[in-house]
Amino acid sequence: MKGVITAGGLGVRLFPLTFATNKHLLPVYDKPMIFYPIETLVKAGIKEILIITGGPHAGHFIRTLKNGKELGVKHLEYVYQENEGGLSDAVRLAEDFADGGPITVILGDNTTDADITSSVKRFKKGAVMFLKKVPDPQRYGVPVFDPNNPKKIIGIEEKPKAPKSSYASTGLYIFDNKCFDYIRTLKPSKRGELEITDLQNKYIKAGTMKWEILKGFWTDAGKSETLFQASLYWAKKAGVKI
Ligand code: G1P
Repeated sequence: MKGVITAGGLGVRLFPLTFATNKHLLPVYDKPMIFYPIETLVKAGIKEILIITGGPHAGHFIRTLKNGKELGVKHLEYVYQENEGGLSDAVRLAEDFADGGPITVILGDNTTDADITSSVKRFKKGAVMFLKKVPDPQRYGVPVFDPNNPKKIIGIEEKPKAPKSSYASTGLYIFDNKCFDYIRTLKPSKRGELEITDLQNKYIKAGTMKWEILKGFWTDAGKSETLFQASLYWAKKAGVKI
């Protein structure tokens, strides 16, 4: 299994912080944000990692991560996303790196202390998504459950005004190599992006999407409130009295 971390974008929701550097290099407590998804992958035994970045500060990644050895990464690759074409457009750039195999994808602004080792080891084909109960599902991709079978997901909606469940699709996914064929068939959404939820929907329609509840702490850190909350969590976990 190889790992892919999306770390592009302009970080508009975090202006003016992201005038200084890429969102995924901003501090979450005492480390650059992207260290957290890298640590999640390495903990799950995934040591070949591709960073998909973009925007004006892409060079800062090499300065910060170098060859990844200090974080336990055996092989670190970088790729540059030309435009802000969305998360599925970013994942598309991992096709050569995946080399016919499956990938575990983590959005670079997601931090979690969950251990996904067993899900990665069990994975054979199709896709897996990880859900978390949240108070504000309208901010995320939200799964729709079959009214006749509460364990079956029949679709996923991106930031719905009226969410049909109280779960967020976290930014952790396992995809088999079919994801690249699916991405080629995607059309841009209303905001002009190839959405990750549309890719998830392809697997759901094909009946090959599995889901799990992500155990432990999880937050995205891509907005000022969640960036702050993530820092608070990791500082308290390290024993800082606040
Ligand atoms: C993205 C995805 C969304 C997912 C979220 C998790 O949203 O589009 O489906 O629930 O990440 O962090 P974004 O945070 O980029 O708006």
